[in-house]
Amino acid sequence: MFQISPSILSADFANLQKEVEAVSAAGADFIHVDVMDGHFVPNLTIGAPVVEALKRVSKLPLDCHLMISNPEKYISDFARAGADIITVHFELSGSDRSPLELSQQIRAAGCQAGISIKPGTPAASIFSVLSNFDLVLVMSVEPGFSGQKFMPECAAKLLELRQEIDRQGLKVLLEIDGGVNLETARQCTAADILVAGHAVFRQASYADAIRDLKNMKGL
Ligand code: DX5
Ligand code: ZN
Repeated sequence: MFQISPSILSADFANLQKEVEAVSAAGADFIHVDVMDGHFVPNLTIGAPVVEALKRVSKLPLDCHLMISNPEKYISDFARAGADIITVHFELSGSDRSPLELSQQIRAAGCQAGISIKPGTPAASIFSVLSNFDLVLVMSVEPGFSGQKFMPECAAKLLELRQEIDRQGLKVLLEIDGGVNLETARQCTAADILVAGHAVFRQASYADAIRDLKNMKGL
């Protein structure tokens, strides 16, 4: 079975507490929080104060996906706010901090560390840093917006990463994010965790949506 991390970007922001409680009761495993700065991606979403508020009402781990420039400036804010997993983008490396430095900073702040790759970044780019991370997030859309179309070529990276994780004998979780639904999940069986925005929050029954998505692994 897959684990499911519903992305609150597709939730009703006027009722975030209700939405988090609803997906938790419906069987979600994480709450996915998309943080965007209008610089690294062309959209603005939420920051650490919302994570702090979510922490007060969520029993599930907060899976925070930082699509921001200079994440090193904000990691401690998100950790203090209650993030459980903090994922940064590989594409930032070289500009400010190395992936290793970011991972060390995230872990020192008491969180699990994730690294994400955009659709244009080959899986092999992160092979040498895999051992420093707890989670790899493969983007299957260009980051910035929910409700976009799944890019099948990105799903192939899951297999490459799975093979490399096994080859190195690591226990890194593989997560896929963007355009995942009951149809596209078939291509993601090498993943452990599916992020789903529209495929959960825009469905009539969250419980049915989450159960059906979970069961797409192992069919
Ligand atoms: C896109 C975000 C995704 C997005 C997923 O930049 O990282 O988490 O909200 O939404 P869907 O599942 O609707 O594509
Ligand atoms: Zn995301």
